[in-house]
Amino acid sequence: MDKLVSLAKRRGFVFQSSEIYGGLGSVWDYGPLGVELKKNIKERWWRSMVHERQDIEGLDAAILMHPKVWEASGHVAGFTDPLVDCKHCKNRFRADDPRIKGTPGQPDAQCPVCGSKGTLTAPRQFNLMFKTFMGPVEEQAAVIYLRPETAQGIYVNYLNVQQSSRQKIPFGIAQIGKAFRNEITPGNFIFRTREFEQMEMQFFVKPGTENEWFERWRAERMKWVEGLGIRAEKLRWHQHGKDELAHYAKDAYDIQYEFPFGWQEFEGIHNRTDFDLSNHQKYAGKKLDYLDPKTNERFVPYVVETSAGADRTTLVVLCDAYREEEVRGGEAAEDGGGEQRVVLKLKPSLAPLKAAVFPLVNKDGMPELAHRIHDDLRRHFNVFYDDGGSIGRRYRRQDEAGTPYGITIDGQSTQDQTVTARDRDTLKQDRVAADKLVDYLTQKLAG
Ligand code: GAP
Repeated sequence: MDKLVSLAKRRGFVFQSSEIYGGLGSVWDYGPLGVELKKNIKERWWRSMVHERQDIEGLDAAILMHPKVWEASGHVAGFTDPLVDCKHCKNRFRADDPRIKGTPGQPDAQCPVCGSKGTLTAPRQFNLMFKTFMGPVEEQAAVIYLRPETAQGIYVNYLNVQQSSRQKIPFGIAQIGKAFRNEITPGNFIFRTREFEQMEMQFFVKPGTENEWFERWRAERMKWVEGLGIRAEKLRWHQHGKDELAHYAKDAYDIQYEFPFGWQEFEGIHNRTDFDLSNHQKYAGKKLDYLDPKTNERFVPYVVETSAGADRTTLVVLCDAYREEEVRGGEAAEDGGGEQRVVLKLKPSLAPLKAAVFPLVNKDGMPELAHRIHDDLRRHFNVFYDDGGSIGRRYRRQDEAGTPYGITIDGQSTQDQTVTARDRDTLKQDRVAADKLVDYLTQKLAG
C-alpha cells in the first residue's frame, strides 16, 4: 500500500489535504491525474445508470438538507459508533478495537496506547454526522448536518422527479455527490475518509417485487464492476449478517475487493424496504405514496439501493492496476534479471492520459512535428507532451501514470510522416502514419 500511496503522490493522482500544514486527518485531494481517473469512473457510472437506461433519472441534490431529514432517516438516533476514552492518556477508540484487552469500563481493561489498566470508560455512542450551524447564530435551533449519504436527497425528491419526468414505477433516481462522516477509525489512504463521494441509485418498486429487483441489481452492478477491468478473482460477494445490517436495511450484499489490507467492501446493494419514504411521510406530514395508473392502487414504494463510493472504486482500480515487472529491451523479461518497471495497467478508457507524445531528440525538425501531432491529438483525447530526459525515462513515467500509448517522433518521422506507437502493456511498437493516429487510438481505446 505504501508503494501505491507514494506513486499516487509522485505522479499527481492523490495528495494529502493541507499537506504544508502537516495534513488533515483522512482527507485527500486529487491531483491532475487523479481527478481525470475519478471523473472517468464517475462518467462511466453515469452513462450506464442514466444515459443508457430509460428507467433511471439523474439528480443533483444539495449537501445541506432540512435537519428533520436526518431524524426521519434514523441517522440522528442510529448513525453512531460506540466509543471508549482512556482517562489516563486521553486517547479515544472504537469499543470493538481489537487492540483493547478486557472489557472497557471494567478494571481489567487495558488501554492499547498507554497500557494503563482500568482507565478505559464504558462505551458511549458517538454520532458520525458532521454538525454545523445555518445562519449567523450558533445555537441548537440552527444546527444542520453535512449529509452522511446522498440517498436522502433522492428520497425527499422522488415525487418531484417522478412527476416531472413522467416515470412510472418501477423507476430509479441516480446521483453522484459528496458525503461526510466523522469516522473514528479512518485510514488506508482513500479507503475510509471523512469527506468522500458516493455514486448512489435508488430504485423505487412495487411492494412484493423488491426481492426480484434486488437480485437484478446485484447482477447489474457486478457486471459494471467487472467492466472496469478488475480481475475476477479479486472480487466477491459478502451478505450482511443480522448484526451488520444498517438501521434501514432488511437485506444487504457488499461487493468486496481483495485490497492489500484484506477483503473489504466498496459497493453495497441494499433492500431498504419503505423505511425511508414511510418515515419521511410521518416526519414531514406529507403523503409520499404513488398512484399506480393501471390499477388505481396507492402504495408507498419499496427501495432497492445501489451505493458505491467513487473514491473507494478509484482505489480498487488503482490497486488492481498496480504491477511491478521486469522488462528487457522493450520486452517482458519473465526470467528475471531485466530492468524493473512500475506500471499501472489501467483499462485504456479509464486512464487519465490516453497517449504521450515524445520527440526522440529536441532537434532536426522532430519537436515541430511532435507539437503538430500533439495539437492534433489533444482535440480528441487527453494527451501529454514530454521532451524531458531519455526516451526510456519518459516511457517509465507514463507507465507509472497508466498512459496506454507512447507516440515517438523519430528521424524517420520527419522523412515519411510516420511515428511509433508503443503499447504500455505488451511494449510492442506499431509504425503508424501520423494522419491515421486519431483513428488508430480511437480503435485501441474503445471499451
Ligand atoms: N446510502 C447507503 C450507504 O451510504 P454505506 O455502506 O454506508 O451505504 C456506501 O456506504 C459506500 O460508500 C461504501 O461501499 C463505500 O464505497 C462508500 N463509503 C462509505 N463510507 C466511506 C468513507 N468513510 N470513506 C470512503 N468511502 C466511503
